[in-house]
Amino acid sequence: MLGLLLLLQVLASCLCPGHSEVVKSFQGPCTRFFYEKTPPSDGIRPVNAARICQVYKNQYRFATLYDRTNRIPVYSAYIYQPGPGDRHDTWYIEPQLIQQDYHKYMETEDSIIHTYGITPADIGKNQAILQDYIDAQGLDRGHLSPCGHQINEEYKNSTFTLTNIVPQYSKLNQGAWKHYEDTTMHQNTQGCDTTYVITGVVPGEDKVPSQRVNIPSHIWSAACCVKGKKPIKAWGAIAENKRNMNVVTNLKLGKLEEMLTKLYKGTVVTLFKNDCPRQMEKAQEIF
Ligand SMILES: *[C@@H]1O[C@H](CO)[C@@H](O)[C@H](O)[C@H]1NC(C)=O
Repeated sequence: MLGLLLLLQVLASCLCPGHSEVVKSFQGPCTRFFYEKTPPSDGIRPVNAARICQVYKNQYRFATLYDRTNRIPVYSAYIYQPGPGDRHDTWYIEPQLIQQDYHKYMETEDSIIHTYGITPADIGKNQAILQDYIDAQGLDRGHLSPCGHQINEEYKNSTFTLTNIVPQYSKLNQGAWKHYEDTTMHQNTQGCDTTYVITGVVPGEDKVPSQRVNIPSHIWSAACCVKGKKPIKAWGAIAENKRNMNVVTNLKLGKLEEMLTKLYKGTVVTLFKNDCPRQMEKAQEIF
């Protein structure tokens, strides 16, 4: 009897969902992108969500919760490790959002069309495609896990999957949000051994001209800074994603979670496990 149980256990572990890229829960190799292996609470999970363990060149690079209805990510979770390497704008999509048994690694549209003999319309059923963004004037392809926070060129390349991208107004993306990503993050992470980041959006009322992709009303980011094994500080930032708006508000993690709880109109939003400090870092406005 015991032997049979053991055998069943071994079999079950071979079937664990960590093997595929679109997974039922963030498990196995994908949990390392979350502080204490704990993803955010369910308050921000949309109905038609997919959890993506982002794979590029056979390695897990970051994790994304994707909203198939709005065709935008809800958040991407990654570890902040800025490093050298060129930026290549080769854009990928997620094969397993087309069909669960497709490749588990990101691929270009052309390549997937060739591999599976499908059409761009097939690809775009549950996700955004390049054409959605090419037609969108005044909107950039805004990264949630940004290229500039990745350690090397392979990791940088992996951020160019459209499942990590939202329509972000150019002025914000190239202005105050860029300042937050480049300068504020650099300053705030001084003294941290590991910084866990979750960057996400609140879906908005508008869509890009193709009418297929939601334009988020807000973009936000939260970080938990760990020294040794101890979380020593945490912070948050949020910006309204509106044409001609260019303001990022820096705030405490606790305050950001409060705001998100209201904005998602759902249950309480918790972004990091409780021991990341909610009340430190003082609020200030930039730009
Ligand atoms: C990054 O992507 C570019 C463009 O596809 C490619 O030429 C380059 O080899 C990639 N770099 C690495 C390190 O994978």
